[in-house]
Amino acid sequence: MCGIVGYIGSREAYPILIKGLKRLEYRGYDSAGVAMLQDGNITLIKEKGKVSDLEGLASSSNKSGSLGIGHTRWATHGPPNQVNAHPHASQSGDIVLIHNGIIENYATIKSVLTSKGYIFRSDTDTEVLVMLIEEIQKNEKCDIAKAVRLALNEVTGAYAIAVFSKKEPDVLIGARKGSPLILGIGEKEFFLASDASPVIEYTKKVVYINDEEMVVLQRNGEFELKTIQNERKTPYIQELELKLEAIEKGGYEHFMLKEIHEQPKSIYDSVRGRVDIENGKIKLGGLEEYENRIMNSRRIIIVACGTSWHAGLLAEYMIEDLARANVEVEYASEFRYRNPVIDKEDIIIAISQSGETADTLAAIEMAKKQGCLILGICNVVGSSIPRASDAGCYTHAGPEIGVASTKAFTSQVSVLFLVALWIAENKGTLSKSRIQEYLTELELIPSKIETILSETESQIKAIAKEYKDASNFLYLGRGYNFPAALEGALKLKEISYIHAEGYPAAEMKHGPIALIDDEMPVVFLVNNSSAHEKTISNVQEVAARKGQVIAIANKGDKVIAGMAKHVIEIPETEDALSPILASIPLQLLSYYIAIERGCNVDQPRNLAKSVTVE
Ligand code: M6R
Repeated sequence: MCGIVGYIGSREAYPILIKGLKRLEYRGYDSAGVAMLQDGNITLIKEKGKVSDLEGLASSSNKSGSLGIGHTRWATHGPPNQVNAHPHASQSGDIVLIHNGIIENYATIKSVLTSKGYIFRSDTDTEVLVMLIEEIQKNEKCDIAKAVRLALNEVTGAYAIAVFSKKEPDVLIGARKGSPLILGIGEKEFFLASDASPVIEYTKKVVYINDEEMVVLQRNGEFELKTIQNERKTPYIQELELKLEAIEKGGYEHFMLKEIHEQPKSIYDSVRGRVDIENGKIKLGGLEEYENRIMNSRRIIIVACGTSWHAGLLAEYMIEDLARANVEVEYASEFRYRNPVIDKEDIIIAISQSGETADTLAAIEMAKKQGCLILGICNVVGSSIPRASDAGCYTHAGPEIGVASTKAFTSQVSVLFLVALWIAENKGTLSKSRIQEYLTELELIPSKIETILSETESQIKAIAKEYKDASNFLYLGRGYNFPAALEGALKLKEISYIHAEGYPAAEMKHGPIALIDDEMPVVFLVNNSSAHEKTISNVQEVAARKGQVIAIANKGDKVIAGMAKHVIEIPETEDALSPILASIPLQLLSYYIAIERGCNVDQPRNLAKSVTVE
């Protein structure tokens, strides 16, 4: 949660900070703030709400300064108001700091500092850290870099911070543990940010700061990377591959709509180079080194959260169905605390778009200690989960900025489908010709998505108008369509705030059927699979109770046409791939319902893109 950005150099910091914060706003939008240093004075401006609210407040202030830090907050400690907004200043006002993460022992430190006369203005854990730095600097009579380092040795929890002191106007400090931080290196200028998006238009040279590392950045272009134990490190400078267009809306009204429409390309990019149809082979370079261990494992345990967990559930269906390997899927947050029986015979697959989800990371760390092999399936290159994994595959969906995951999900499913086929190929559970059929069909998915987008979007807009005032929705599907139903329901909840439940269609009669009346929209996923007839029976059960059936079905399905109020037609595909196609109308439906309800689609209330707190 929270986005941080920092700048030191010779340009004006404020425009860089504001632009960066707008790009990081997906990480939190409860409040925003900036601090700039000019002629020995710190200008601190912060406001409740979005970065645009901050800009409004700042419009009449002096914002000069070529050293500055900025923050966009997702509230953890204390309500989202102006006082709790970052940056936070020390008691004297000499030091300012921004923070992403949670200082777990803040209460203990706060009470010690309070007894020494420190007066806290906010409810945050962050303010405790900046006060602690000041106290240490006072006692040690040291420079700001040493005070920060010593303070970080006293805190427990997670942090990415940027901090400066008005007494050292040519120094900016950044540090991380558990929350992401990137250093951008320009010509005698430096950028700090939670991800590469604020940095990309100024420099492509970056260093991914590791846990318990800090950087001391000097205005003259020199910098030092060291651990918080004071051990010097050699920075590994990497070239960013990210393109600016990838993080802009490109003519779409919302990132979410852009990302829905990007799916033919994001799936193509996820699959490209990994498929050899002629020889019926799957090339997953990231996994090859561990092929034996994976093939001989007792169990694959998938850990993930939210949408990535839904991709994980689909992976369970695919790997068990196609590769006959034993799979379990766990919510990362439950897995890490329920004392599971795991050992070195088990393989963990951690799925995450951001690669920063705290629960998933913690589950990985716990499984590592038990000797499990960790495979990461992540989208953000260089993020914490791939770095904590032994091996894995990137999904290559490109930056996903809309808080509601769309293209990252379908890319995850595509890559996990390849993982299932790769295991099947190695275990010999599928014939070469069957693998070739699957791969051929996978290659057709992007064009089938294009068909869905061009043929169904206006119909879905009209359906959205009709159901925009519904209070509840049910999403039902069987087999591979059940995880897709869960994902459809999550999308609607997240961005339109309508209560929605996903259920296995056959489970409906064990409870949820009681909810059905003539006002209940029920979205059925009914593709032509072995479960088609059974699902049709469930549709009849809903129709008999006057539920409003919206069916997502294959083209030309005459049976469903006679029963459903609306049928959204999608092309046929392999059963295992049908959730990818079915997800497209589900994403569009939730998008257009949210638009009809006037909701902020890209920044839904209370949510953040990257959940870096437990
Ligand atoms: O970055 P991750 O994939 O690890 O994130 C996991 C969930 O927080 C995420 O999928 C969340 O559920 C999204 N808002 C879904 O749209």
